[in-house]
This record gives sequence, structure tokens and C-alpha cells, in this order.
Amino acid sequence: MLTDGHWQALKQHGERLAAKPLAELMAAEPARAGTWALRVGPIHASFARQRIDDAAWAQLQSLANVAGLGAALAALFDGEIVNPTEGRPALHSALRGDVGRGQAARAAAAQAREARERVDQLHARLADSPVTDIVSVGIGGSDLGPRLAVDALRDFHDGRFRVHFLTNVDGSAARHLLADLDPARTAGILVSKSFGTQETLLNGGILRDWLGGTDRLYAVSANIPRVEAFGIAPDRVLPMWDWVGGRYSLWSAVGFALQLAIGHDGFARLLEGAAMMDKHVRDAPPARNLAAWHGLFAVWNRNALGAASHAVMPYDQRLALLPGFLQQLVMESLGKSVRIDGSPVPVHTVPVLWGGSGTNAQHSFFQALHQGTDILPADFIGVVRPAHGFDDNHHALLANLLAQSEALANGSPSDDPHKRYPGGRPNTLLLLDELTPYSLGALLAMYEHSVYVQSVMWSINAFDQWGVELGKKVAGELLPAVAGDAEPADPVTRALVNEIRSRR
Ligand code: F6P
Repeated sequence: MLTDGHWQALKQHGERLAAKPLAELMAAEPARAGTWALRVGPIHASFARQRIDDAAWAQLQSLANVAGLGAALAALFDGEIVNPTEGRPALHSALRGDVGRGQAARAAAAQAREARERVDQLHARLADSPVTDIVSVGIGGSDLGPRLAVDALRDFHDGRFRVHFLTNVDGSAARHLLADLDPARTAGILVSKSFGTQETLLNGGILRDWLGGTDRLYAVSANIPRVEAFGIAPDRVLPMWDWVGGRYSLWSAVGFALQLAIGHDGFARLLEGAAMMDKHVRDAPPARNLAAWHGLFAVWNRNALGAASHAVMPYDQRLALLPGFLQQLVMESLGKSVRIDGSPVPVHTVPVLWGGSGTNAQHSFFQALHQGTDILPADFIGVVRPAHGFDDNHHALLANLLAQSEALANGSPSDDPHKRYPGGRPNTLLLLDELTPYSLGALLAMYEHSVYVQSVMWSINAFDQWGVELGKKVAGELLPAVAGDAEPADPVTRALVNEIRSRR
């Protein structure tokens, strides 16, 4: 576990480098563009515009050693209990390959293979039916990954089904979606690991009524008794397990809707891309390990340079949902203030993760990136080969991507303070050769492991999420008050409930 002394040593490097123009670091190290870049499969990653030098990097690597990063990665892949508050391993890697060496990892991989066969069977059954539209009902990890991948991989849809997502408990979402669909040609998938999530059960109930029963309802869950109580027959239920966290579950039957969109082979390629990244992260030494680099730079920006947020800007419309997916992955995993042993983390943990797709975002929040008082580190993501033939558009997209990364780092002087760009805004550039199921799998797995690397540095549990429980509990208690059958105890809530009642 890292001590105050370790963090102080890192901060000293941060202080030493804080005021140094990135352009000066570039000038001092002419080969920087090559030295600070890595290629893994279809991903080229450039960290050359991070505010780092060899001495600071050596310090970060030595802290990673002290934190036991190598052993921690092996523990993750091998199925050791890395989520001690729930007594569980986190074996998402077993859903996509066989990188794990432990007995638990092998058993999980066997269960995952069996589930893949069941997914194929149900896929075939649906393909032989008159169903044309699929509504996937879920929230959080039971929604964000499949929704992102279905949207990102539209170029790979086989056209058999149209896939829709129903998430928000706001009834408008159900009303608007169902208005455009025909119940006779629609099937629903209720995705909920716990099968106890209020939003999913309410929307599932709406869908069940609209379909006129449960004949065309499928479920993905780890809680079979609850699924049966809802009325879905066991032969239409796909498994989930305690050893997969919701936000890490795209690779399981939670991705059923994605398979229905891109087919068995497309889904298999997604898993292969992720498995390739797993193998890289397990085998590559820290000095050449992409997830270690990405995670260590996140820690560097947060703890040595004091950045409280991290932006992700995909310069590809197909990845527009990536920031939303990463918000859950990063902020639910790393939004912790105590270490695994219960003691307070002596440094800041999770940054606020946010972002938006380029170039659109340039015309909304980029002003703050360039000239705001806070330094906001960012990941830029680009795709080299587009899936369309509009070359002029693609050249413009890539030119803007490169321009923003360069301008934020280098800035531009001016005698007029309003027109001065301070620069020094660190950013990482991730370039995918093309956007395919394989490269998307690799990219998402890289982010998953980067999150784990950060959690190891902070000694926090990346796989629980106790913080979200309080709000659920209070909402449950307030339900009768909103419905008009009780008075809330809290005076502010009571006044607001009265306001709501008076306006009904
Ligand atoms: O409320 C947070 C959360 O528990 C997430 O961690 C999870 O992904 C989401 O709710 C949905 O949970 P479930 O799959 O059990 O419906």
C-alpha cells in the first residue's frame, strides 16, 4: 500500500514539472513522439503530450511496483477475491478468453462458454420467428455497454433485427419508444443482474402489458427466482453470475441485444479484441503495458498535477456514447474514499469523467479546455480508416482531432491576454486503425484494465458500489409520500412533496 511518503515523492515531481511548458519537454526530448507511444493490436496510443519526463515516469513505475501492480493484475485474471466487500472475484476477462490461470478463472470460462451456446440457441429461435424489433430493458451496466456497442457497430449490423433500448423510469421513454413499434413483431429482453432494479422492473412491467404477456420476453439475470416470479419461463433466461460486475458485463449474455444486432461472428470478434488486450495486459511488462500506462497517467494527472476531471473526446460519431459508458466504468469503480482495509485514501481518487464527440464538442465546451482556469486532461480518440466514402469529411475530422491535441498542448502566445492560449493542457491520443467489433473490444478492455490499475495504486475496491444504495433506499421510503399516502420526515423534502401535490 502506498504511504504518504510515496505520494509526496510523486507530488514533488508534479511540482517540478507543473510550470514547465510542454513545448520545452518536447524540445528537450526530440524523439518524444516515438518514445512515449505504444501500439497494441489495432490501437496506437500517444502519451507524448503528457506532462511527464523520465524521472517522474521512473517514480510512477516504482510506486506501481510498491503497490504490487503485477501481482494485482495476476490476481484479477486468475480469479482471486479482488472485490472483498462482496467476497467475489471480478472475472470479466474469463468471458472472452482464457488468460486466467486459477481454478476459479477456468470454471468461469467454462460457464461463459456454456452461456454463449445458450445465447446462440435463443438467437436462432428469435431469427426463426416473425420478430423484427428487440427492446432491451436495463440500466447502468445492464444498458450502457450494449447500447454503446450497438450504436458504435452500426456498420456491422446484419439487418435481421432493429434493436432499441429502454432505460429511464420516466414513462415518457416507454411511451415514445413503444409508439413506433408493433407488439406482434417485438420481443423484449429484461437485463438485470439482480432483477431487483426498480427502473427495469417497472419498464419490464410496461413491456409485458404492451406485449400481452411474457411469451416474447427474455431475461438475462443472476437471480433466477426473481425472473420466474416475474413470469419469464426458464428456457428464455440467460445467466449472469456474481463474478461479473454490471459495468464489466457487456461480454456476457448482457450483450445478447448486441449479438442480435451484429450476429454471432461479430460478437465473437468483439470478445477476441478484448481477449487480445487481456493477454497483452497480463503479459506485457509495465514499461510496455498499455493499460498500465493509461492508468498511471490518470493517477499522475490526478495526484501529481491535481487535475480533478478527465475528458474523453471520441472524434468519431459512432463512439458518441463512449463518454457515458466510461462515466459509469470510471466513476462507479473509482468513486471511493476509503481503501480496501477501511482506512481513508490519503490522496484524491476518482476524477470527474466527462466528454463528448468531436468536432461537435469544439463548438460547445472546448473554450474552457483552451482558456479556462483549470487544466483539464483529456483522451482524444480517432479512427484512421472510416467506414464511408466521404473523404473530405474524414480528412476534416482527423485534421480537427490532431489540431485540438496540438493546440491544447502547445498553446499560442499573444500580446493580447484575451487571445493568448496558455497551452500545457496534457492529452493522450488513441488512434484505432478502424472501428470494428475487434478494435472496440480491445479499446473497452483497455479502459477496464486502466481503471483497475488506478484502483491498485489507490488500494481501493474497483468492483463494489455501495454509494449508490442510499439513494435507492431513500427513494423507496419516499414512494408512499409521492403517491400521497405518507408524510416525509425531512422538512425540505416535505415542503417539496407538498409543492408537487399542490400542482397536480
Ligand atoms: O445502481 C447501480 C447499479 O447497481 C449498477 O452497478 C448496475 O450496473 C445497475 O445498477 C443495474 O443493476 P442490475 O443489472 O442489477 O439491474
